[in-house]
Amino acid sequence: MIEAILFDMDGVLIDSEPIILKAAMRLFADKGVTVKKEDFTPFIGTGDKRYLLGVGEKYGLDLDFEVEKLVLFSHYARIAKESGPLGGVIRFITNAKRAGMKIALVTSAVRMKMLLNLEAVGVEESIFDKVVTGDMVKRNKPHADIYQIASLLLGIDSKKCLVVEDALNGTVAGKAAGCTVLGLTTTFGREELFESGADAVMGTLDEFDDFSTSNEFNELLRGYVGVHGGTPFGANLIADPVKEMDEGVLRKAIAAALKARLNAYAPYSNYQVGSAIVSHRTKGVYPGANVENSSYGATICAERSALLRAIADEGVVGIECLVVVSSDSPPAPPCAQCLQVLAEFSRSDTAVHLLDVDAAEGRDGVHLVRRFDELLPHPFIFPSRRF
Ligand code: THU
Repeated sequence: MIEAILFDMDGVLIDSEPIILKAAMRLFADKGVTVKKEDFTPFIGTGDKRYLLGVGEKYGLDLDFEVEKLVLFSHYARIAKESGPLGGVIRFITNAKRAGMKIALVTSAVRMKMLLNLEAVGVEESIFDKVVTGDMVKRNKPHADIYQIASLLLGIDSKKCLVVEDALNGTVAGKAAGCTVLGLTTTFGREELFESGADAVMGTLDEFDDFSTSNEFNELLRGYVGVHGGTPFGANLIADPVKEMDEGVLRKAIAAALKARLNAYAPYSNYQVGSAIVSHRTKGVYPGANVENSSYGATICAERSALLRAIADEGVVGIECLVVVSSDSPPAPPCAQCLQVLAEFSRSDTAVHLLDVDAAEGRDGVHLVRRFDELLPHPFIFPSRRF
């Protein structure tokens, strides 16, 4: 349940990327340096300092931001005056205030630019419950810090915050902070935004219907995530809707794991494990067995063996469900190394079925069902792609 909305500023409240781009190009032109539009792309959403100095470095210029920002922002203020707020922004903020939701402005830009933008948009700073600017943090977006600080200042758990972002660095920051992220396509495309972790993507806030209570807001948001979003599996986003897991498919997966267990190569431990992965996209069932090695550490567990088989067949898979059959009772969970590998392809709610041989063979045995995040609550996912 979302209780607060954290607005990025540039590209969310105002379409400022073209404005800052024009202003920065003008600044470099005044110095007799011709820079390209593409030079700025890697620095979008990282704050004006990186934006300017990053390109400066590329051209061998050692710029002092404290001096240059005055020039940059004087160009900026002039160009920004011609631009108003982005579509739907004022209506959306009005709805959020009426619904009693907390709102914060969380921008990687410095305070001076924030004030120029709010003036161009026609919004008072006091409308926001909190304002966090880039000059208040050491590590700017794509680090999570700025969104974590906003959630702390509001006193609302980041899991209950919606971040509205247009920049990939900002989406990554929002997700890394544990927020839900709504991406707007002001600056980047839908696919890029989804890939960077956005839960839902729309053109502008014009597409967000009116709401007057927080419940209505959350209901609308669930709809947008369902319609526009894919299903996040660890580091991968699979753009299929989630369907009910079919009982027949689960039975097939248990039978496949049981059969694979008999093929396990376990001459050293004599501990045979069978596993099966069900692919989210195709509902295909991929069995695996443990394969040991004279060099013990080279052993491959049943779960990773099943995953490798699924990927060899389908490419990137989303694990709809995982079955593990072992002789232990209660049955053994996947080892930590397997969980880490599986995390890349699992949802937090991916079902993990653990069965002893009796249960797998349909007799009276133990069949446990765990959510993936119960087994591995904090997987390591390479930070730039963390959900
Ligand atoms: N094993 C698995 O196949 N899956 C697990 O998650 C735990 C361990 C295998 C590896 C090895 O062949 C044997 O069980 C004993 O460690």
